[in-house]
Amino acid sequence: MKSKIGRNDPCWCGSGRKYKNCHMAFDEQIMLSKLQGHVVPDHCLIKTPAQIEKIRESAKINIAVLDEVSDKICAGMSTEEIDRIVYDTTTKMGGIPATLNYEGYPKSVCTSVNDEVCHGIPSSDVILKDGDIVNVDCSTILDGYFSDSSRMFCIGDVSPERKKLVDVTRECVQLGLEQVKPWGFLGDMSQAVYDHAAKNGYSVVRNIGGHGVGLQFHEDPWVGYIFRRGTQMLLVPGMMFTIEPMVNMGSWEIEQNDPNGWTVRTVDHKPSAQWEIQVLVTEDGHEVISY
Ligand code: MF3
Ligand code: CO
Repeated sequence: MKSKIGRNDPCWCGSGRKYKNCHMAFDEQIMLSKLQGHVVPDHCLIKTPAQIEKIRESAKINIAVLDEVSDKICAGMSTEEIDRIVYDTTTKMGGIPATLNYEGYPKSVCTSVNDEVCHGIPSSDVILKDGDIVNVDCSTILDGYFSDSSRMFCIGDVSPERKKLVDVTRECVQLGLEQVKPWGFLGDMSQAVYDHAAKNGYSVVRNIGGHGVGLQFHEDPWVGYIFRRGTQMLLVPGMMFTIEPMVNMGSWEIEQNDPNGWTVRTVDHKPSAQWEIQVLVTEDGHEVISY
């Protein structure tokens, strides 16, 4: 945090207002939390109203793309076809799929089926079949602003066990979201997610999580789900991050040894589910930016 702004200097946020009439009290509250030993956000993690508006525009595309996938996805479709739908819909609306060429990732979306935990690569060889559960993880860049969310889809007749995993994982995200409020802590969200998964006999993946997002694809903080209430980063208005727990029917252990270098699977090959939302911390709670 930059410390020496005068009371009458322009605020660091770019509002044009004097510091004392803008973020001064806000910074003092953050400083107090820091003195109490908490991890606090840097100014660069706090989005301005203008930036938030641009990120919302990006998210409109991301949501529309997932809606389009939701309309079309069915048994017999290859995950390559999902990739095509994502690429076409995103680019027609003026966006760029954020995963395409990201650190060498070759496709416009991640499609993770059954025991695939995340980062499944779309392929014409992977045909969705009755009973599959699949995560479609979509991310968009519009004018340099990022949005990121994912949904689960149940293909045809899915077993009650798999259906329950998908439903409980969605509930985990909802319960986590309800904990997101200014001057609370990221760990409040984490514990709500973890407890609901554990209560249902599931495990939560430990070393892959969510992330700050908006001005870049992946920003601080890292968002894990094994943390306790009252720990992890202080939440303040203007912060934006994803809640995207991967919930496993069996053990939390995962492996990344697919020759494609990306796909993560459960070690026990039991199914895994994930839903992802992008959340803004507001003055009085939270706003879901992408889902
Ligand atoms: N949408 C994924 C996330 O939540 C993207 C992972 S990067 C990829 O961060 F290259 F694997 F797609
Ligand atoms: Co993400």
